[in-house]
Amino acid sequence: MRKKIVAGNWKMNTTVPEGVELAKAVVAASAEVPAEVGLIIATPATHLCPVAEVVKGTRVELSAENCADKEKGAYTGEISAAMVASTGAQWTILGHSERRQYYGETDAKLVEKTKLALANGLGVILCVGETLEEREAEKHFDVVKAQTLNVLDSFTAEDMKSIVIAYEPVWAIGTGKTATADQAEEIHAYIRGVLAEKFGAQVADDTTILYGGSCKPSNAKELFAKPDIDGGLIGGAALKAADFIGIALSY
Ligand code: PGA
Repeated sequence: MRKKIVAGNWKMNTTVPEGVELAKAVVAASAEVPAEVGLIIATPATHLCPVAEVVKGTRVELSAENCADKEKGAYTGEISAAMVASTGAQWTILGHSERRQYYGETDAKLVEKTKLALANGLGVILCVGETLEEREAEKHFDVVKAQTLNVLDSFTAEDMKSIVIAYEPVWAIGTGKTATADQAEEIHAYIRGVLAEKFGAQVADDTTILYGGSCKPSNAKELFAKPDIDGGLIGGAALKAADFIGIALSY
């Protein structure tokens, strides 16, 4: 059975002390959430070590928001998957649309990043999603299929045990415009079909597919009620512990 997950993506928000306080508040509120719902917080790289201390021994897991496409060496400013793992983090987000859009993240780089993340024992939350232009041109299925397979073609069914997909339509991120539950379910089911074709029905059935894009306590219930939506990747609403946990309580 695939796992339900609610993951918070803090993006470039909070100072270290603020992040530590937020993590403490999430941990404190996490007891209310049903045990079968996994909770992950993805913090800026500067926050990973102190937040790892906060979440240690709790049910809250820790994620980076990115890692490098190179193993180590002369890559000033980059943070390797080994470094992320050494903080105590168990996950990294990869391929967020903001990284694709503003930092030249390509599918080829994502293959390298995913390989290094898995080799260092990290789980990967791989983000896919179409832009508004692509949706209006009715290319969203093709775009999402290409983003998914361009990366996952390099991985095995065994690797898929450590990979979660996050479908995040770019037009819904930070805009207040959520995909309707039906729109999201349609593409989640499609992604599961793509996974079934590539890896077989069992892997497809076991893979967690999260929805992201203006998910909040008021709309999470309807989204999470859909059979192929296995939780959420939460941006803005993850910056308030009560909202983040409120979303997790929608299960
Ligand atoms: P949002 O961001 O919830 O603020 O729309 C989601 C994301 O980008 O992961």
